[in-house]
Amino acid sequence: MVYNIYHPILQPPEGIGVERLILDCDPGHDDAIAILMAGLDEKLELLGITTVAGNSYLENTTMNALKVVEMAGLDVDVYAGCARPLLRDQIVAPEIHGSTGLEGAKLPTPKRQAEEKHAVDFIAEMVKAYPGEINLVATGPLTNVALFIIRYPDLVEKLKRIVMMAGGIAFGNVTPVAEFNVYADPEAANVVLRSSVEKVMAPLDVTHQAIMAAEEIERLRKTGSHILQTLADLLDFFRSTYLDLFDIDGAVLHDPCAVMYLIDPTIFECEDLYVEVELDGNLTYGQTVADIWKTMKMKPNVRVLKRIDRKAFFDRLFEDLEKLAVRK
Ligand code: RIB
Ligand code: CA
Repeated sequence: MVYNIYHPILQPPEGIGVERLILDCDPGHDDAIAILMAGLDEKLELLGITTVAGNSYLENTTMNALKVVEMAGLDVDVYAGCARPLLRDQIVAPEIHGSTGLEGAKLPTPKRQAEEKHAVDFIAEMVKAYPGEINLVATGPLTNVALFIIRYPDLVEKLKRIVMMAGGIAFGNVTPVAEFNVYADPEAANVVLRSSVEKVMAPLDVTHQAIMAAEEIERLRKTGSHILQTLADLLDFFRSTYLDLFDIDGAVLHDPCAVMYLIDPTIFECEDLYVEVELDGNLTYGQTVADIWKTMKMKPNVRVLKRIDRKAFFDRLFEDLEKLAVRK
């Protein structure tokens, strides 16, 4: 018999092995799942959520973040960031996420409002407070992240790492070669890829291995929990748009891959590669070009997630989401 004895000298002190993060996002259905994982997983300490224009306009992505926080009863502040890309014309994705950016279910009206402080200044405040400890996880266009790098160059080296859902190596989803988060602000992605901080990138090549099937969405519904039924409704909407546009019958959990890397990096196979973003091409604008054959003789600048242990991914995801089943 194993005695589960709690004793101060037999247990590691609180917080050991916990990853501190700020989640910069554009909710967005998959961003919503990323928020829940970041707020619920015991491996993570979510210090704040920052929002950026992307899947929808900033007022929508910010409201959506507040609604997800309210629905899950998370105690975390939301800071609005950039309302438009650094240089290019703005694009949004109503064909995927609906006109509000999070269609498919009615979420509770948030009690909390977005904070006054700008997202980029909040990121700087946290990096100053916790030098070397902050993971900046980006699941939308990289505008806020790039602006942090430009506005606070002395703080960049104090970031622990940037983990981004960004890019596509073998394919895109907005053009044949460009992925939405990069295509929505390629100049921002360029600033981030050229920065000196440790970077991890979850491209479409890996996120398309995390497709939540209809029966897995149904598992949430069968819990009988109102929150998880609302989540299942959102995911069914997301699945329906992917079926219409890409003939993919599932909810592609792009953004949760970035958060899951922090929770358990062993779920992924990775490779350190040299990656650049195309800024001048007509057909290739916003393409992330990964030098997989090392032809450019450049030092790798980013850890690219390549393969996923799908069972381990979904086991941990359900472990986190099902914590909501006991919340009202
Ligand atoms: O290309 C997928 C990415 O674009 C995801 O972050 C999704 O939420 C959208 O923002
Ligand atoms: Ca997103």
